[in-house]
Amino acid sequence: MSILRVDNLTKTYSGAGQDLTVLHSVSFELAAGDTFAIVGPSGSGKTTLLGLCAGLDRATSGSVWLNGILLDQLSEDQRAAVRNQHVGFIFQNFQLLPTLTALENVLVPLELRGRRGAAQVALTLLDRVGLADRAHHYPAQLSGGEQQRVSLARAFANRPAVLFADEPTGNLDPNTSERVVNLLFELNREAGTTLVLVTHDLELAARTRRILRLRGGEVVAAGAATP
Ligand SMILES: Nc1ncnc2c1ncn2[C@@H]1O[C@H](COP(=O)(O)OP(=O)(O)OP(=O)(O)O)[C@@H](O)[C@H]1O
Ligand SMILES: [Mg+2]
Repeated sequence: MSILRVDNLTKTYSGAGQDLTVLHSVSFELAAGDTFAIVGPSGSGKTTLLGLCAGLDRATSGSVWLNGILLDQLSEDQRAAVRNQHVGFIFQNFQLLPTLTALENVLVPLELRGRRGAAQVALTLLDRVGLADRAHHYPAQLSGGEQQRVSLARAFANRPAVLFADEPTGNLDPNTSERVVNLLFELNREAGTTLVLVTHDLELAARTRRILRLRGGEVVAAGAATP
């Protein structure tokens, strides 16, 4: 069974009296445990596609199956429940909650699930991303790269079936970037987490098994990430 199946997905934004179609009939399928990169120029629809796959937003037409669940007709609340159960998401701009510390941000998805020992799990995750000594800092007191890593810890808290990451290395220096990328692939190997990454970093894209190339909202190439 595929973990993610996208069928003829189209997204049109309407506003200001003008419709803008930013994704045109995108289709692909991913097996559980796969690693996948979505690449393409700025504005080509990468973030939009990621959000539709993760159930953050609804398509204009077409279908998304996530872990066997058809997302198309689900309500906002139902999609939120599916996300908490199956999805981890690292946003391009992190979206940490500013009034919560690093530790509290990582605790949010754990507490939503009523996980026992949540505090210990959250601390272990922060340690894993190298931020044990920043647990009580607020996002505004963290560097961009540190916020990125808190976001990774939060995204992985519930050991999701699929981890979506939008430019996971976009704000990181080469050393930290290497560390975050290694961590992502470790999670893939150890927990079987399917990785779906949006990236401009061709080295990172080359480490995934498959690549989808978008231009102007259309798939221009899809296939194995040949070195
Ligand atoms: N809420 C919205 N309303 C209208 N247009 C939008 C909206 N969100 C995105 N767009 C448009 O959709 C297109 C695709 O945006 P998207 O964020 O998916 O691009 P991207 O490939 O992730 O770009 P980048 O590499 O710069 O992050 C852009 O032209 C953008 O202006
Ligand atoms: Mg984007």
